[in-house]
Amino acid sequence: MEARLQKIISQAGLASRRAAEAMILEGRVEVNGAVVRELGGKFDPAQVEIKVDGKAIRAAEAHAYYLLNKPKGYVSTARDERGRRTVLDLLPEAKERIYPIGRLDMNTEGLLLLTNDGELMNGLLHPRYEVQKTYVARIAASLSADEIRALQEGVQLEDGVTAPASVRVLDEMPGRARVEITIHEGRNRQVRRMFKAVGHEVLALKRTAFAGLTLEGVKRGKYRPLTEAEIGMLYEKAGGSRDEQA
Ligand code: URA
Repeated sequence: MEARLQKIISQAGLASRRAAEAMILEGRVEVNGAVVRELGGKFDPAQVEIKVDGKAIRAAEAHAYYLLNKPKGYVSTARDERGRRTVLDLLPEAKERIYPIGRLDMNTEGLLLLTNDGELMNGLLHPRYEVQKTYVARIAASLSADEIRALQEGVQLEDGVTAPASVRVLDEMPGRARVEITIHEGRNRQVRRMFKAVGHEVLALKRTAFAGLTLEGVKRGKYRPLTEAEIGMLYEKAGGSRDEQA
């Protein structure tokens, strides 16, 4: 992926962004053997050789971004001490050292993003940006109007009252209902605990959307790389434009 020359140099750990700019202006930086003195040129560090003071820099690993449709039965960590299957087992072709952005419980399925872009990950998980996550929960009874209102307005959990949520009953029959709930907090097992607080056990849980992305076109257990437009959109939701943050 292309990035500004000064950014590539600073990400390689050689200098701050500003010092890297000075190195370029001083004519100390070469790209494919030619000195580059202008700021702002963009290059793909995987495609070109960049030298500073005649020495090739080791490019930081290119960023990678994937959207996975996690099935039940996989843990959302990069490695599991108990030897259980992890979400990374589902992305055998991903060469980068990627991590999930947040977690889904072992028994929750659905949309999980994975990346090696720590800045984006931190932004998307930061409570300040209130990134929206939508889940569909299956429960064994219909929800009363009071229960819906409680979920919408906030329920008391051990770690505090939940923030306002959107709640929509998708379908209900005697003895079962499917409820869509959109929250922006990311507490541990939050959706299951919210339903429990209003007296319902969640029998099955799926995340259907995260930060405006959906599972469309991605079957259970499959994944796809994000597009450039999607990555840009995520940066905006995470509080900054890509150029400022990346
Ligand atoms: N809420 C839950 O209860 N579980 C998840 O995996 C995600 C949100």
